[in-house]
Amino acid sequence: MIAQNPYLLKKCRIIQKIRETEDTYTFFIKTDIQPAAGQYNMIYYFGVGESPITIAGKEGSIIQHTIRAAGDVTSHIDSLKEGDFLYIRGPYGNRWEIEKAYGKQLVLISGGLGLAAIKWIMEEAIKQKENFKGVLSLYGSKNYDSLLYRYDYDRWFPQIDFRITLDNPDPRWKGHVGLITELIKKSDIEKDAVVFMCGPDPMVKFSVIELQKKGVSLQNIYPSMERHMKCSVGTCGHCMFGPFFVCKDGPIFSYSQIKEFFERKEV
Ligand SMILES: Cc1cc2nc3c(=O)[nH]c(=O)nc-3n(C[C@H](O)[C@H](O)[C@H](O)COP(=O)(O)OP(=O)(O)OC[C@H]3O[C@@H](n4cnc5c(N)ncnc54)[C@H](O)[C@@H]3O)c2cc1C
Ligand code: FES
Repeated sequence: MIAQNPYLLKKCRIIQKIRETEDTYTFFIKTDIQPAAGQYNMIYYFGVGESPITIAGKEGSIIQHTIRAAGDVTSHIDSLKEGDFLYIRGPYGNRWEIEKAYGKQLVLISGGLGLAAIKWIMEEAIKQKENFKGVLSLYGSKNYDSLLYRYDYDRWFPQIDFRITLDNPDPRWKGHVGLITELIKKSDIEKDAVVFMCGPDPMVKFSVIELQKKGVSLQNIYPSMERHMKCSVGTCGHCMFGPFFVCKDGPIFSYSQIKEFFERKEV
């Protein structure tokens, strides 16, 4: 039997492209891959390179990727139009184990672009909300113009406890103001809650501190980690984090697994 080449690219058509913010777009792509919420794809731009990008949603054979133009590769990808092709390999990494929260409160915490990694599992939680003792989703964003997925809020608000906070509000904003940690402090979070989280490292660090004050066990806090990746199959070592390969052991870890390395500056 010939082993499947893990670097094989799939050519996928862009069905729809939505502008989210000044530098961020969501692409709806037709593909036959079968990912799970929490996984990511490597997206390739010929002659430039490739980037790991979380799978932000899936409906039938259409998957979503939300991509911020951070540098060369992502700027080239963001310049693509509806009808163009994306070249992807994946899916890679582990998934959000939503069943760990059955019978308990499920808390989702995201900061900035981290909502892309939380959106799909939030949609799943909405579909199966009778399995939980409540679903609370906290999302922190820099300002009004950097809010992602605004077109989905009217659908999310009545179904789960979805709360947004802005660091720097303007007169258009009537909701919570301040860092996500303030929103965590104000929210009712149960001791045995299961928490899925994605955002910048400082957000994760300080959110974990607030969650601990509420009695949530480190074992039940699951951050999705972002580290530099090249191969995404555990061979190049670019993503090493302590003894873990973020590309294949993660990107999702229980905080109790990674605490020692996360809190060490040089890792
Ligand atoms: C598992 C995973 C999922 C991700 N999901 C998304 C997503 O859904 N949407 C999205 O827009 N981005 C996502 N990223 C980040 C994205 O991969 C990087 O922004 C991208 O690779 C940058 O490449 P570039 O050539 O455009 O820019 P570069 O010029 O390579 O980098 C631009 C800036 O981004 C930083 N950067 C580069 N690679 C990474 C990385 N892997 N993680 C964090 N910072 C990085 C660089 O240090 C630099 O400051 C994800 C990263 C990982 C590891
Ligand atoms: S990206 Fe190569 S080992 Fe993880």
